[in-house]
Amino acid sequence: MWEKTMPIEQVREIRGKSSVFLGIGAIEKIYDIANEVKTRGLNKALIVTGKSGYKKCGAWDYVKKALEENDIEYVLYNKVTPNPLNTQIDEAKILGIELGAKFVIGIGGGSSIDTAKSAAIMINYPNKTASELYEYKFTPKKSLPVIAINTTHGTGSEGNRFAVTSILDDGKEFKPAIAYDFSYPMYSIDDPKLMITLPKLQTLYTSIDAVNHVFEACTTSVTSPYSVLLAKETVRLVDKYLPKALENGEDLEARYYLSYAALMGGICFDNGMVHLTHALEHPLSAMKPNLAHGLGLAVILPSIAKYTYKARPEVLADVLSPIIPELKGYKEEAVKVSLGIKKWLHDLGVKETLSDLGFKDEDIKRLVELTFKTPSLDLLLNCSPIKSTEDLITAIYKESL
Ligand SMILES: [Fe+2]
Repeated sequence: MWEKTMPIEQVREIRGKSSVFLGIGAIEKIYDIANEVKTRGLNKALIVTGKSGYKKCGAWDYVKKALEENDIEYVLYNKVTPNPLNTQIDEAKILGIELGAKFVIGIGGGSSIDTAKSAAIMINYPNKTASELYEYKFTPKKSLPVIAINTTHGTGSEGNRFAVTSILDDGKEFKPAIAYDFSYPMYSIDDPKLMITLPKLQTLYTSIDAVNHVFEACTTSVTSPYSVLLAKETVRLVDKYLPKALENGEDLEARYYLSYAALMGGICFDNGMVHLTHALEHPLSAMKPNLAHGLGLAVILPSIAKYTYKARPEVLADVLSPIIPELKGYKEEAVKVSLGIKKWLHDLGVKETLSDLGFKDEDIKRLVELTFKTPSLDLLLNCSPIKSTEDLITAIYKESL
């Protein structure tokens, strides 16, 4: 068990396309980052965050001081909600334009970081709206630099180019995604100390999000050995450290490895993409904006696992071995895998079905329709290792009720 030998109080830089500072105390890197961006002439910042978490977790004290010490002017947009909306991007954009922002800092989980990435694009397009961006009505060519201060361990957005928003105007119920090469954060911070105030359910749901990212990324039609490698380690670390973090939210070692696992998950799907679980969850949390993304994923994963395993038994037997050790890699094990994942989730505390979340049989037609109609989700469906037919998607929703 090498994890104990790792000096987790020493901050390490994990370099992918984003430079991510990982370790206890990594938030102090904001001083170096602020100093560096100032020397590059980036002297005005738009801060994008939620209502109160950015203060409660302790991040704001550091960020505010770092900006003030370096004479960086800033404006704060702190109205990002879970399952953030396109209108929040537009509001943040206006504040950024009024200030003349030269870079954007996102503080929070995926919702805040994704909204920060989107606002960083939209500031360059004052006459366009975020719904036009997410409905692919125009193709952006640039973004302001983004700094991501991550306070959860699920999204992986701090290490990849993806962003998501919900568009609920005009009865749309869309939750599309975008991914542009200029959207990798310039710098990110993953500090386990900022995560100890994360409530138990969010600890659970965000970690399940990370597991879904890798479950999907290692089984898409565009996966690579790299995604399989990252997937295997992500599942191992979440399986080992999530129960510890649920038992004691202040366990910094558990938070460190969950944070590292989620970062790997983000890089894993930045390379391998995602498929059915995300394509079918987005309509769920678009229809019910109070539904946590990770819970939505958890509820449909057992059914999706059954179908996916049949197509990728060798990969999944290896990747899922920490959770279901006896797998041999035969497609006949598909039902066993579905039940094994269900039990794993149940033991962690996820006992809900789609019905418990308020969905009924008569909602399935709309969910299937949204899966096909939501902009960008067709790309995910095309990455599925099994053909994403209407029958298959209907069956998955039905089995999850
Ligand atoms: Fe996700």
